Amino acid sequence: MGILMCPVCGQPLTGEEKRWRCASRHSYDVAKEGYVNLSLSSRKGDDIGDNKDMARSRRDFLNKGYFEPLAIAVTDCLSEYSARGDTVLDICCGEGYYTAYASERTERSFYGFDLSKNMVRLAAKRKCAADFFVANIASIPIRDKAVDAAFHLFAPFHAREFRRVLADDGVLLTAIPGRDHLLGLKELLYDEPYLNDEKEPDTDGFKIAERIRVKDEITLTAHEDVSSLFRMTPYYYHTPTAGMDRLSGCDRLTTPIDFVILVLRKDLRG
Ligand SMILES: C[S@@+](CC[C@H](N)C(=O)[O-])C[C@H]1O[C@@H](n2cnc3c(N)ncnc32)[C@H](O)[C@@H]1O
Ligand SMILES: [Zn+2]
Repeated sequence: MGILMCPVCGQPLTGEEKRWRCASRHSYDVAKEGYVNLSLSSRKGDDIGDNKDMARSRRDFLNKGYFEPLAIAVTDCLSEYSARGDTVLDICCGEGYYTAYASERTERSFYGFDLSKNMVRLAAKRKCAADFFVANIASIPIRDKAVDAAFHLFAPFHAREFRRVLADDGVLLTAIPGRDHLLGLKELLYDEPYLNDEKEPDTDGFKIAERIRVKDEITLTAHEDVSSLFRMTPYYYHTPTAGMDRLSGCDRLTTPIDFVILVLRKDLRG
């Protein structure tokens, strides 16, 4: 936990079994699953971000390996673009599938955080070799330049904070949905399915060293999997009744998966 700092005063945090604390005695309990809540939000945390049902659906779907091509690509990119340095951070780690996947195949110190306590709780339950904590991308409780490599998959971007925590020679891998991502699911749900616009985030202060496309086709062979996939997407919030009816009768679905990984380096000019 050497890279973590107290969200109140910014001093280093040291860990005991049940509590992390700083020199000024601000302390943070370790939850029974092993994660720590370093978010200063006064809200309870269970109600922030994806609800329990969405978090579990994401875990159940990803555990089946349908998005493994992306996990492989991210793990490969870590060794290809960041051969040096020990510390790897999964920003907005969700329920930890990619953190666990990469940490089980790479000998480095992994950290993962997300704003949703429901997500972080599931991530910690994976019992992989990573430290998980609850935090907001707008105020990441990590020392300046302490991260050698970070990945950040399908989540909001915060250029200033990501740049602050990343080492000057570090790498940030950001994944966005590609044009055809989940078109098969959208064809089931909508009469006029649209393609994704591949809109890239505002990466102010970074330069894009490379764009890597990861594309494949997957076939889901059980209704349960189709339903889990649906519940982890934004379509969950806005699907017309006809689409919901088709979804409820669907127990086999073939769809492209399509991701773009942006390989970002800090722009050190100026
Ligand atoms: C689509 S999910 C992706 C999760 C994970 N990266 C994955 O690919 O499985 C987006 C995640 O971003 C998290 N998130 C959204 N806003 C956030 C913020 N301000 N700070 C930290 N995490 C945030 C959500 O809680 C959610 O887990
Ligand atoms: Zn403190």
